[in-house]
Amino acid sequence: MTDDVIDQNATTTENSTKNPKAKAKRNKSKRPNAINRFLKENSEGQGSTITKLPRIQDVEESVLRCIIGQDKPVRQIITAIYKAIVFKQIKTNLLIIGDSGTGKTETIRQILNELNLPYTIEDATKYTQEGYYGADVEDMIYNLYENANEDIERAKNGVIVIDEIDKKAGNGVSGERDVSGREVLNSLLKIIEGSNVVVSTDEYPFSINFDTSNLIVIFLGAFSGLEEIRKKRLNSTQSGFRLNKDSKVKQDTRFLKQDLIKYGLPEEFVGRINTIVEMNKLTKQDLALILRNSKLSIFREYQRELRNRGISLYYKGKLFELIAAKSLLTDTGARELNNTVNYIFDRIIYEVLSNPKKYPKKRHFDKYKKCTLDLGIVDDNSKYTIS
Ligand SMILES: Nc1ncnc2c1ncn2[C@@H]1O[C@H](COP(=O)(O)OP(=O)(O)O)[C@@H](O)[C@H]1O
Ligand SMILES: [Mg+2]
Repeated sequence: MTDDVIDQNATTTENSTKNPKAKAKRNKSKRPNAINRFLKENSEGQGSTITKLPRIQDVEESVLRCIIGQDKPVRQIITAIYKAIVFKQIKTNLLIIGDSGTGKTETIRQILNELNLPYTIEDATKYTQEGYYGADVEDMIYNLYENANEDIERAKNGVIVIDEIDKKAGNGVSGERDVSGREVLNSLLKIIEGSNVVVSTDEYPFSINFDTSNLIVIFLGAFSGLEEIRKKRLNSTQSGFRLNKDSKVKQDTRFLKQDLIKYGLPEEFVGRINTIVEMNKLTKQDLALILRNSKLSIFREYQRELRNRGISLYYKGKLFELIAAKSLLTDTGARELNNTVNYIFDRIIYEVLSNPKKYPKKRHFDKYKKCTLDLGIVDDNSKYTIS
C-alpha cells in the first residue's frame, strides 16, 4: 500500500495482506483463507478507496520517457484509462493492436504503475475450453484481487489485461473457426459487460459477488492478417471512383469493428470494445532512439553498470543504427534489441569480471578505466578495446 492511497478499509484489514510473498506467488491452497478475508472486509466495510490521480500530462510525459515511437497510441491509451477512472459510468474495454515488441505490454505496465492501479496480466492462450466454464474469469479476478493486496475496493477499480487475445479468434482469413477459442471469448463477456462475476472455491461452498462494472479490461494482440482485411475493405470502397481530398466520403483507415469480426472475433465481443488503439510499427530509427534515449534502454543499462565500476564507454553514434538494423532482421520489434546488446557486452563483461581489481578495497574501481566499442562489435563481440 503506498502513501497516495487512502484506504478506509485499512482498520478492518489484517496485516497479513502486507506479506509480499503472498502477492508474488499465487498459492491455491491459501485461497480459502484469503476468501474469508475477502468476505470479512466486504461485509464489514462499505468504505471506498480514494486514489489521488496524477495529472494526465505528467503520466504521459513519464511514459514517453520509456516508450519510443508510440506518442499517439500512448496518449490514446492514457486517455481511455483516465476516462474509465474519472467517468465511472463509462465502462471501458480497450483493445490494443500491434506487432510483437512494439511496446503494448510495457506501455500498459508503465501507465498502471504511474497510476498505482492494481492489475493482472493474463495470457489468453493459457485458457482453454476444458474444465468448467467461468473458472478462467474467476482466476483472473482472483489474481487481480491478490495484486490489489486483497483490497476488494481497489480490485474492483483495477485492470485486467488479457494478452494474445487474437490467438482465440478463428482467423476469418483462412476460413477457420476456432470453437474452443470462441468459448473462451464468450466467457470473457461477463467482465466486459460489467456484470457480477461469482468467484467460488473448490473447498467451500463459498461464492463471492464481484461487481465488474468499474473494472478496466484491456485486450492486447498482434492480429497478424488483420492488415490485409483492412486493405481489402479500403480497396473495395475505392473501386470505381477515386477518393481525393475534396471527396465528401472519407475512408476510415483505422481498424474497424467489421475488420475484427471478419478476422474471427465474435460480434457480441467486438460490440463491447469501446476503444481500439493501433500501435505503430517500429522503424530502424525508432529502435536506435530506444537505445539512445529510452529509460528502458538496455544499452544505457550496461553503460551505467560499467560506469559504476569506474569504466567509461566510448562508441560512435552510428553504433545504435547498426544494432537497430541487426535487430530489425528478426520480427520481434524492440524485443530483439536486448539480444543484440547482450551479445555485444558478453565478452566485455567476462573480461571485466575476470580481472582483479586494482584497488580491491575500493568497491567502485576496477582495473579498467576505458572501454571502446568498434562498430564491428555488432557482428563480432571481440571487436573492442579495454584498458
Ligand atoms: N516502443 C518502445 N519503446 C521502448 N522500448 C520498447 C518499445 N517497445 C518495446 N520495447 C522494449 O521491448 C520489450 C518488449 O516489449 P513489449 O511491451 O512486451 O512488447 P509487446 O507487448 O508489444 O509484444 C519491452 O520490455 C521494452 O523494453
Ligand atoms: Mg506483450
